[in-house]
Amino acid sequence: CEPEESLANVLRANLGLTSVKVGCDTGMCGSCTVIKDGKLARSCSTKMKRVDNGTKIMTLEGIGTPDNLHPIQLAWIAYGGAQCGFCSPGFLVSTYALLESNPKPTRDEIRDWFQKNRNACRCTGYKPLVDAVMAAAEVMRGEKTKDDLIFKIPEDGRIWNTNYPRPSAVAKVTGTWDFGADVGLRLPPGTLQCELVQAEVSHAKILSIDTAAAEAVPGVYKVVTHKDVKGKNRITGLITFPTNKGDGWDRPILCDEKIFQFGDAIAIVCAETAEAAKAGAKLVKVEIEQLPEYMNAASAMADDAMEIHPGTPNVYYTQKIAKGAETGPIFDKADVVVEGNYYTQRQPHMPIEPDVGFAYQDDDGKLCIHSKSIGLHLHLYMIAPGLGVEPENLVLVQNPTGGTFGYKF
Ligand code: FES
Ligand code: FES
Repeated sequence: CEPEESLANVLRANLGLTSVKVGCDTGMCGSCTVIKDGKLARSCSTKMKRVDNGTKIMTLEGIGTPDNLHPIQLAWIAYGGAQCGFCSPGFLVSTYALLESNPKPTRDEIRDWFQKNRNACRCTGYKPLVDAVMAAAEVMRGEKTKDDLIFKIPEDGRIWNTNYPRPSAVAKVTGTWDFGADVGLRLPPGTLQCELVQAEVSHAKILSIDTAAAEAVPGVYKVVTHKDVKGKNRITGLITFPTNKGDGWDRPILCDEKIFQFGDAIAIVCAETAEAAKAGAKLVKVEIEQLPEYMNAASAMADDAMEIHPGTPNVYYTQKIAKGAETGPIFDKADVVVEGNYYTQRQPHMPIEPDVGFAYQDDDGKLCIHSKSIGLHLHLYMIAPGLGVEPENLVLVQNPTGGTFGYKF
């Protein structure tokens, strides 16, 4: 391994210990937590040059296995601690370290521990996790048995309205539930690695895209731009309602004429290694003419705002309002009337699992795409015309997916 490489990468890619999940990759979410010489460490931000020979690393694989679950894992199952399960390995390792140092923590101490060690969960709201730690601690102190944590089907065979564990729970609490990035590590040798070239402005006209320097990078196989997309190069989705003032085919797969938002995909650099793909992506030159950036709905709706998607008004949908009695007379009689304009903050989805997808052509020549999706069939019929592939020649496969909270539509 390389001195600058992360411990997480070595554990996952070199040693196959994929219970170690990499979410943020910047030391903020705790999904990659391991125990390093007895202390918790976030392995994504631990460089190998800081891991001495002989260092003892403990991952979730060392705590319990599907055939021999640790009380913490059983408690996670019993209390619904693993919903999407992406954060679970990090929490379980963190809990193991907590209970080693404090066998009888209070609920507040558990919360403080997770906060201090930056274990974040987007699904559960934390209460089930605190419940699980309390229950696991009781078993580890000998006050309860492992069997107390195992779900028993009631005599009448009823499972509704019970704590029947989710079928994926054992895999999620043992780190054997493979998310996209885990499956991605098991692709055949020679699989090309892709890196996106993404927009760094929120609204612009594209004047040119120059891929020559990127294509000259050793190991770069191809730089894909909109010119390579055979279909409409557009996707649509939920917005194709008949009430919309536009046909919905507004979003480019790879930007051609315009950039519509920060992060829009402009090109895909395909290379033999991830490093070569990254190096190539930095060299793709995108010449743009900056356009006004509308950073909230109010400014995009202003009378003097330019059309963001040419041909479709910025206010492309008007919500019908069902109105009751006239409110004017009610306000007239009120003792106090307060008027104002209110604007709520943005609510980012903040999923912890990163976006990972991969694709290949199968033996029948069908294009198979494995990715996150919360609407496989809708996505298939959206992607097929976008790519210029007949729907029957496109196969979409949903990877086991961390909580996405709606953003993956
Ligand atoms: S803290 Fe390491 S992946 Fe988030
Ligand atoms: S279960 Fe914690 S992030 Fe989904």
